[in-house]
Amino acid sequence: MSDTEIKKGLAGVVVDETAISKVNPETNSLLYRGYPVQELAATQPFEAVAYLLWHGELPSAGQLAEFEQRERSLRSLDPRTLQLLDAMPADAHPMDLVRTAVSQLGAFDGTLHEANGWTDRTLDLGRAEYLFAQLPTIVAAVQRRRRGLPLIAPRDDLDYSRNFLWMTFGELPSDAAVDVFRVSLVLYAEHSFNASTFTARVIASTTSDMYSAVVGAVGALKGPLHGGANEAVMHVLEEIGRAENVVPWLDAAIAEKRKIMGFGHRVYKHGDSRVPTMHAALQVLLEESGRRDLADLYAVLEAEFVARKGIYPNLDYPSGPAYHLLGFDTEIFTPIFVAARVTGWTAHIMEQSASNALIRPLSAYNGAEERHVP
Ligand code: SDX
Repeated sequence: MSDTEIKKGLAGVVVDETAISKVNPETNSLLYRGYPVQELAATQPFEAVAYLLWHGELPSAGQLAEFEQRERSLRSLDPRTLQLLDAMPADAHPMDLVRTAVSQLGAFDGTLHEANGWTDRTLDLGRAEYLFAQLPTIVAAVQRRRRGLPLIAPRDDLDYSRNFLWMTFGELPSDAAVDVFRVSLVLYAEHSFNASTFTARVIASTTSDMYSAVVGAVGALKGPLHGGANEAVMHVLEEIGRAENVVPWLDAAIAEKRKIMGFGHRVYKHGDSRVPTMHAALQVLLEESGRRDLADLYAVLEAEFVARKGIYPNLDYPSGPAYHLLGFDTEIFTPIFVAARVTGWTAHIMEQSASNALIRPLSAYNGAEERHVP
């Protein structure tokens, strides 16, 4: 065993097949069930992308209408979920609140089968649709609660993206804001065996339940090396403050060997395929907001860091400022990532369950030689 090569972080290790998405660093591309993500972001409502990830095909008009109707009927929270959130400390991180709420949904699961007509065959798909519909209402409630504002009920006359913004801010958003938000959700939805998705697959591989797998995935996504980076990007931009501070700030950060949030990627080494699309969406908000200071800071930091280290932005870099300009609290950025990525997670959980093998790697022992209690 001693001469076995260890692949720390499973870097470069292919552990299974998936038909859900293809991340290709050579061509810097990302396909969801064969469709380039850029085409989906340009043309599809987020509900259609969720359907595609779960079913492998884009929905027909009839299938989409039927799914939308079902999704809208599942948006309202059980009063006990609101009681749970109210029982949590006011300064709890929103990711801890979202993780806890998902865990509670799992405890309700038994009562949902009948209520929603789930049969054994459709059980996990029903759960996936339920989580998809519940998470925006949970995230919006957490945002409103942080600001001491009354909760806003979901509206079944609004599509997923517009309703998400309505429940959060209590006013109908502009079409431009809805479209930027929808693009971010499509780009965040799925990304093969990233850390949180693989966490979900490990839990699913023990034949545990979908909620347990999603709770584990939320825990993995919270980390700043992964989903928590979009929140951390905004903290970095606010720490630097203005474009003219970038050079001295970077000098110090690089000297301290700090990881600059929003840059780098385990798979993409020459740029993240999703960044140009999210960057363009961010520009719409920067123009509309007139925030030249933020636009300059964002551009200078990217140019300076790429020039010095040859490490490129990932999706979290444009997404952070975009969510800031949409009006979300910084700590709500990663919960939004949860609401989008729950589509990919649940698709992978169902794929793992459909052709399962318990995930259990080996380790090379480097501890004390065998010895015996005196
Ligand atoms: C996401 O996997 C996915 O698909 C994830 C994701 C998804 O959609 O699910 O794309 C979402 O998680 C994107 C990544 C968000 N994280 C961040 O922005 C955090 C900052 N990034 C780094 O921590 C880092 O780039 C990682 C963790 C993302 C990837 O790191 P790797 O592949 O493990 O590479 P590494 O850390 O070994 O870095 C190689 C070198 C190191 O230098 P040396 O120690 O060899 O001298 O590059 C340096 C690193 O220090 N480096 C960075 C850096 N990223 C890499 N140095 C400073 N800042 C960075 N951001």
